[in-house]
Amino acid sequence: MNILVTGGAGYIGSHTCIALMEAGHSVIIADNLCNSKRENIEKIMDVAGKEVTFYEINVTDVEAVDAIFKNYKIDGVVHFAGLKAVGESIEKPLKYYYNNIVSTMVLTKACKKYGVNRFVFSSSATVYGNNKVPFVETMDLLPATNPYGETKVMSEQILTDIANVNPTLSVSILRYFNPAGAHESGLIGEAPNGIPNNLMPYVTQVAKGKLEKLRVFGNDYPTIDGTGIRDYIHVVDLAEGHVAALENLTEGVHIYNLGTGKGTSVLELVRAFEEANGIEVPYEIVDRRPGDIASCYADASKAKRELGWTAKRDIIAMCWDSWRFEKNYKE
Ligand code: NAD
Ligand code: UFG
Repeated sequence: MNILVTGGAGYIGSHTCIALMEAGHSVIIADNLCNSKRENIEKIMDVAGKEVTFYEINVTDVEAVDAIFKNYKIDGVVHFAGLKAVGESIEKPLKYYYNNIVSTMVLTKACKKYGVNRFVFSSSATVYGNNKVPFVETMDLLPATNPYGETKVMSEQILTDIANVNPTLSVSILRYFNPAGAHESGLIGEAPNGIPNNLMPYVTQVAKGKLEKLRVFGNDYPTIDGTGIRDYIHVVDLAEGHVAALENLTEGVHIYNLGTGKGTSVLELVRAFEEANGIEVPYEIVDRRPGDIASCYADASKAKRELGWTAKRDIIAMCWDSWRFEKNYKE
């Protein structure tokens, strides 16, 4: 299939482009590089050993998107392009609503115009809010605590409403848990701008000596050691989940958790990193981060049952691969 991957130069998108090409598909990337680098496109081609077609466009731009659909026979869209910084979304809500919602509308409209019936969307476990763990796809969603989360809830609703009146359209909504790790080549991985918000890139930058110590946000949660529990999933497993979702799409809307089903606390992750890589990660306990919940992990059984997909790589592999990428990475 010819797959249009929006946001394909980014962290999860780049790994998914490789997995798609390994599965025999052709990839067209549309990315405006607002949170990624052009060199990622070269790296994707190096790792996959295949060419990709790259369009440097903003996917909220109707004409630029239309031109791609006109030029290529697109068989499916995987829509990663989005802004994802929770804190920034509170300060700049309009930027987030516009980018994340309009992009979904522009792309679905182009799909309708050109008869493209496969659409895979990047959602997030954030849509569950502070539900009881493990999170199951059938749960009622709780109001998001920030505009970023709202854009995921709204995009899910928009896609569901469109699919309901377009019976030939097949939509897969993938709710990711916490992506970590990097490609085993060490060439692509997560390279956040500025100081990382997320735990794993923060840990690798402390290990590299770029940051002095990790600040652990709270040790008084009702968890095994008081620190927050998350379901870390290797980004290559996540990428393979997209291939499975795309290849097993049937008409209608399907929602899948992409997680491992296993929770890991902040301190467990720090210890796993130290053990895997033989490097000490200094840390201090500080106050809770506003908006954080105690525990977030998936019931991952639906994806296994319906897509035949499960995560294969464990937290140690995530620590190895994240560290290999960080060691190699030059700004
Ligand atoms: P990323 O920032 O590395 O990748 C997103 C890519 O989209 C970037 O290359 C960026 O340049 C591009 N982009 C953004 N807006 C665009 C636009 N309007 N037009 C064209 N390109 C645009 O992020 P990621 O971690 O790879 O996340 C991919 C998707 O998964 C996002 O939608 C994100 O919200 C979602 N998600 C991420 C996580 C996570 O923890 N990383 C968790 C849940 C969901
Ligand atoms: N944490 C620290 N110190 C840090 C960073 C994080 O202690 O410097 C802790 C957090 O308090 C939390 C855990 O590490 O307990 C994970 O935090 P992340 O910031 O890595 O991830 P979150 O679960 O907060 O959020 C991530 C994405 C969101 C997405 C959500 C659910 O950043 O975009 O997963 O998928 F919505």
